[in-house]
Amino acid sequence: MSQAELTHESYWMASTESTAHPSLETDLEVDVVVIGGGIAGLCTAWELKRAGADVALLEADRIGSGVTGYTSAKLTSLHSLAYTRLREDHGPESARLYAESHQDAIGHVERVCADLGADAELERVPAYTYMESAERVGEIRAEAEAAREAGLPASFVTETDLPFPVAGAVRVADQMQFHPRKFLLALARDLADRGGHIFERSRAVGLHDGARCRVTTESGATVVARDVVVATHYPIFDRAMLFTRLKPRRELVAAAVLPAERAPAGMYITPEQHTRSVRGAPLHADGQRLLIVTGESFTPGTGEAEERFERLAAWTRSRFPEARLGYRWAAQDNDTTDGVPYIGHSHPGTQHVYVATGFGGWGLSGGVLSGRLLAAHITGSPRPPWTELYDPRRLPRLREASALLGQQAFVAKHFVGDRLHTSHVDSAADIPPGSGAVVRIRGQRCAVYRDESGAVTAVSARCTHLGCLVQFDAGERAWECPCHGSRFAPDGSVLHGPATRPLEPRRLPE
Ligand code: FES
Repeated sequence: MSQAELTHESYWMASTESTAHPSLETDLEVDVVVIGGGIAGLCTAWELKRAGADVALLEADRIGSGVTGYTSAKLTSLHSLAYTRLREDHGPESARLYAESHQDAIGHVERVCADLGADAELERVPAYTYMESAERVGEIRAEAEAAREAGLPASFVTETDLPFPVAGAVRVADQMQFHPRKFLLALARDLADRGGHIFERSRAVGLHDGARCRVTTESGATVVARDVVVATHYPIFDRAMLFTRLKPRRELVAAAVLPAERAPAGMYITPEQHTRSVRGAPLHADGQRLLIVTGESFTPGTGEAEERFERLAAWTRSRFPEARLGYRWAAQDNDTTDGVPYIGHSHPGTQHVYVATGFGGWGLSGGVLSGRLLAAHITGSPRPPWTELYDPRRLPRLREASALLGQQAFVAKHFVGDRLHTSHVDSAADIPPGSGAVVRIRGQRCAVYRDESGAVTAVSARCTHLGCLVQFDAGERAWECPCHGSRFAPDGSVLHGPATRPLEPRRLPE
């Protein structure tokens, strides 16, 4: 299959039905409003409904159509080389609580699916972090020891079921892979059946925090609630300025059909080669499985997505020669400066606004554990022992200083506009069909897109979040903001927050 024939859609989205919940048109009052219909938001809403709360969920687009629908869908407690860092930066007890919280989330997904009779294609498989180069095998030995000390069933191995040799790997038994959107749709069905309110195409644009909180949506309709959960991946309301401690990251995904006997049974990741992650998935075709390969980690808006995808596809073909590429998509993650997500009260001054973000590529188990943790906060039921570990109000540690300063310097550079890294041209006439670039028009920087027919759309190049300059991603035909990861369609409409307002339209000179 040539690249042109690839489906530019995630397999998870392509293999599930679309949803059609109403949008919020009239004001509503409930106990809790959850903003965001991805795994963190839906799990939180579902847990709360099960606990007897009246819940409304607001999703800007469709359920599970944001980050959750575009992951590699691993439910694992082994997070690349996380435990070495956790032990060093946060101490052995924090590493143990981190491991326990993710193990708990994996078991919870299994129980929920059994409870709902949901077929989310759960498969219990081992997870591996591996290195191919012998020079880095010491990192693997250290991670195996740290993961074991944290309580995981981890071991150092040199044999895997990958079709190429590795110098060493950490193996953690009994982890899980699944179909994330099937899981979300099952939760959404049950939530709606139990009287929960789900509103799609209902973008939240305002939040008033108080004894009674009020969330305003794009249509003007509001939801009043005692508690609000902001589960929008990157928080769209951020009085705590978490954006100074979050770094967005994009990764590309290729999915290929492979004879089942050639597909690895385990889930794999290596930090080498800008990350490579591999897993299989069941296909409803005899004797075949889907191979999902993720990698080429990069900051949104820093370009070269096409070359990066070509590298990923070439790697897939060379390592799995029988694989036939069928799908390509991209995933987006946020890394925190201390390597631990923020789940809990969004800032010290609030009693009723909660956030779940910064999962660093492990948002499926992170989203499930967010649901359990936030529901415990809101209902007042006993909180799990890892509550403090994830508290967003924790102070930055001294050793985070260089990561914090580095992120601020990066944002400052993209705010003023770095011509070396931006796709600037002198005139809209220089933009070829199917492409976009930043053009200075009447002293203002405009993001100009020319479609295949030659028609041109111009919008402001200033991101509506905090004003950094957006960049065009030719692979996904979208404007991306390198500062905090907002994404916009060629017409300026918001695809991904933290921005909630579209890029302003601009008029090109006649
Ligand atoms: Fe923050 Fe664009 S996402 S300035």
